[in-house]
This record gives sequence, C-alpha cells and structure tokens, in this order.
Amino acid sequence: MKVILVNGSPHANGCTYTALQEIEHELNAQGVETEIFWIGIRPISGCMGCNQCLASGRCCMNDSVNLFLEKVPEADGFVFGSPVHFASATGALTSFMDRAFYGRAALFAHKPAAAIASCRRGGSSTTFDQLNKYFTISNMPVVSSNYWNTVHGNTPAEVAQDIEGLQTMRILARNMTWLLKCLAAGKEAGIQPPAFEARTNTNFIR
Ligand SMILES: Cc1cc2nc3c(=O)[nH]c(=O)nc-3n(C[C@H](O)[C@H](O)[C@H](O)COP(=O)(O)O)c2cc1C
Repeated sequence: MKVILVNGSPHANGCTYTALQEIEHELNAQGVETEIFWIGIRPISGCMGCNQCLASGRCCMNDSVNLFLEKVPEADGFVFGSPVHFASATGALTSFMDRAFYGRAALFAHKPAAAIASCRRGGSSTTFDQLNKYFTISNMPVVSSNYWNTVHGNTPAEVAQDIEGLQTMRILARNMTWLLKCLAAGKEAGIQPPAFEARTNTNFIR
C-alpha cells in the first residue's frame, strides 16, 4: 500500500513539506509506504492542449510531470500539497496538475486523494477547493479530516506551532489509511470498482 505525497512548493523543505511530513509519519506508523515527490523549481509549462498525451500517455514536454506519471500506477493514494500564492495553488503546481490529470481519468480513477494547503494568513480555503477539483473530475474518492486541510505559518518552525493544523494532517493520514484498507478488503472480497465509462462530451451542444 503506497501513497505519493506531492510537494507543490518551490521550497523542498518548507511549510508545505512540514505538513506533508506530518502526514507521512502517520501513514508510516499505520504501515503505509510513502514517497514525497517534489515538483522542483525548474519551470513547469502550462498545458499546450496539443492532445498528444491522449495517445501516448506521456506529456510531450519531458519534465517532472512525466516522472510523476511513471509512478502513478504503483500508487494507491495521493496527497497534493501547495503553498498559497495569491489565494490559489502555486502556478507551478497548477501547471503540473493540469498536465498530469488531463485525459487521464482511467489512470487516477478510484484511488483516494487529498489536498492540503499551507499559508501565512489567507487563501487556504480557495486553494483547497481548487486542488479538490482535479480529484472530483477523475472519479477519485476524496479523503477528508476534522477541518479543511490547512496549516498556517511562514516558516517550518511556525507551522510546527500550528498544533491544530498538524492534528488535521494526522487525522487526514488516518482516514486515508482506513479508506485504503477498506478498499483493499473490498477487493479481496470480490468488490471491484465500477467499470470505466468514458465521458460523453456534449460541449453544451444538443
Ligand atoms: C508569491 C507568493 C504569494 C503568496 N500569497 C499568499 C497568500 O495569498 N496568502 C497567504 O496567506 N500567504 C501567501 N504567501 C505565503 C506562503 O503561502 C506561505 O509562506 C507558505 O506557508 C509557504 O509554504 P512553503 O514554505 O511550502 O513554500 C505567498 C508567498 C509567495 C511566495
């Protein structure tokens, strides 16, 4: 059982990482394997809409998106974390997720996911909402906690003082573990996910 935690911050060991680490420790304590995947600081271009990936399964821009996509099949669940930049996810993570999720519903479907946001003061709820949109268009069960998944702080040391935020992260990890174990037990008992049905795009034209 493996969960990939994507760090969408330009800081490899910053506030978002601190929150992801809290989740990782709890997942590991519950016997779940983890990997923190940092999207890095090299420029991540937005999606060009060339649609080449629909046939190849890979993005024509060979960067961390393709590295991540190679890891997706082996993962059972995901956590995507972003610092808040102007009340939104970072531009880099937005581009990363646009390109990772576009046309790949079958790859992510039925794998649980959670979003977390790290902010100094405001905009965490909009960021949280933004990230959840990728999961809810991809047939992914969304894992929740006892509050919207956010931590506050401008430095890792400040995040460490956000006792409530870190508790939210730990509870999130336990809920993720519980759901993963339920899904595995269901599979063992012969319960399969619903058969994949391709979306019917009407583009509002009747
Ligand atoms: C370009 C930029 C925009 C930011 N915008 C916000 C914001 O809208 N609201 C907020 O509370 N913090 C904002 N911050 C602060 C970061 O969200 C906050 O310090 C975060 O915890 C940093 O996480 P990190 O160390 O993982 O990068 C901004 C920081 C940067 C660099």
